[in-house]
Amino acid sequence: MNLFVGRNGKKNGQAAPSSPPPIIDMRGLRKVYDTGAIQVEALRGIELVVQPREFVAIVGPSGSGKSTLLNIVGCLDVPSEGSYRLDGEEVAELDLDELADIRNRKVGFVFQSFNLLPQITAYENVEMPLLFKGAGARERRERVGWLFEQVGLADRMRHKPTELSGGQMQRVAIARALACEPALILADEPTGNLDTSSGQDIMSLFEQLAEKGHTLVLITHDAALARRTRRIVRLQDGLIVEDGPVSRAA
Ligand SMILES: Nc1ncnc2c1ncn2[C@@H]1O[C@H](COP(=O)(O)OP(=O)(O)OP(=O)(O)O)[C@@H](O)[C@H]1O
Ligand SMILES: [Mg+2]
Repeated sequence: MNLFVGRNGKKNGQAAPSSPPPIIDMRGLRKVYDTGAIQVEALRGIELVVQPREFVAIVGPSGSGKSTLLNIVGCLDVPSEGSYRLDGEEVAELDLDELADIRNRKVGFVFQSFNLLPQITAYENVEMPLLFKGAGARERRERVGWLFEQVGLADRMRHKPTELSGGQMQRVAIARALACEPALILADEPTGNLDTSSGQDIMSLFEQLAEKGHTLVLITHDAALARRTRRIVRLQDGLIVEDGPVSRAA
């Protein structure tokens, strides 16, 4: 078994049969938060296409719309206007149940605060999405063991999250995000709660996943970490103001 995410080049009515659809395809995307008295226009017309196997950093000042964008990319929220195709499926018009279904099938999340369940072991946290998916006992055992190997934490599987360091907790969260072989891995400030050295380790793990063919989009405030990805998308006031490859020469 390896970490490569196979893209099967399935037809989506637009692309040629041999070329898989983009993982993210957003057109004219807008998001308005209506809080009653005031309306906040958090995204004001986003065009973003991310192909399979890309490794992308989203950067920008506080309040520029990064989390809003990532939440829509991850089907945690819906746009107010515009279209969004995730791995070839239009999601802008889905209801909440349909949104949850596509999210579970396609997206793995990594959060700044890890979001592990504290009462159960690291192993059980990673097993959880496989249980929800209905995977059998043997498949779960093999997959979870293998995932812990991948994140370099095989000797800590039976620990509770509180018995782990921040960096180790984030490794467990990454293993959990990978459990159901998502088309896309999303991370909102995944190193935000870690010291510099643990943050570097987590970034190295993301680099390894990118090299193995995963599609990764992460938000970071840290310019040095952003430069370890392959493409930087800069948001400002709800718009993309810069989008380009990371120069390795610099
Ligand atoms: N649930 C909400 N209701 C109303 N306004 C919101 C909501 N969430 C975000 N906003 C507003 O939308 C804008 C974009 O917020 P967002 O959280 O996407 O920014 P961000 O770039 O992630 O910032 P940070 O770097 O501080 O995390 C901000 O003006 C924010 O106040
Ligand atoms: Mg944010």
